[in-house]
Amino acid sequence: MKNIVLIGFMGTGKTSTGRVLAQKLGAAFLDLDQEIEAEEGMAIPAIFAQKGEPYFRAAEHRMVERVAARQNAVISTGGGTVKDPANVALLRQSGVIVCLTADVDTILMRTASKGERPVLDKEDKGDRRRAVETLIEERRPLYRQADFSVDTSRLSPLQVVEEILHYL
Ligand code: S3P
Repeated sequence: MKNIVLIGFMGTGKTSTGRVLAQKLGAAFLDLDQEIEAEEGMAIPAIFAQKGEPYFRAAEHRMVERVAARQNAVISTGGGTVKDPANVALLRQSGVIVCLTADVDTILMRTASKGERPVLDKEDKGDRRRAVETLIEERRPLYRQADFSVDTSRLSPLQVVEEILHYL
């Protein structure tokens, strides 16, 4: 089986969907952020705070090289993984790319707690909605590179998985 790669904005359910999808397919589940945290021995917000975003992006790229070399895996990426065209090229070669989307209200609800998403916290100058909208707008063309998209706003992870399996 080729890999199935989940891309999309923060709060679109990449990790929870990926876990259920992998289980259904009997495939390995690889979550880029979790792999990076294990490798660095540090949580993502701490990596951003202590080492900075460029360091995180370099670690993320090395992890993409590693996971893209695998087969039979469901790979959940981070919301910003697609900012590096080299990452997109590697992931595309390794399998099918599925974009998960959600409306702004749903994303706001799922990413409400501060301190967990440094990119959003940095953009958030007292207006979380504006921060989400600005970043989504900026990244929309990147997420459009997927083979197909699923709107997860009103679906459970299991329902999202069923949608994905329907498309495959
Ligand atoms: C990021 C999204 C995060 C994580 C990091 C940067 C981004 O992943 O990789 O905080 O730039 O959008 P999630 O999409 O899983 O929150």
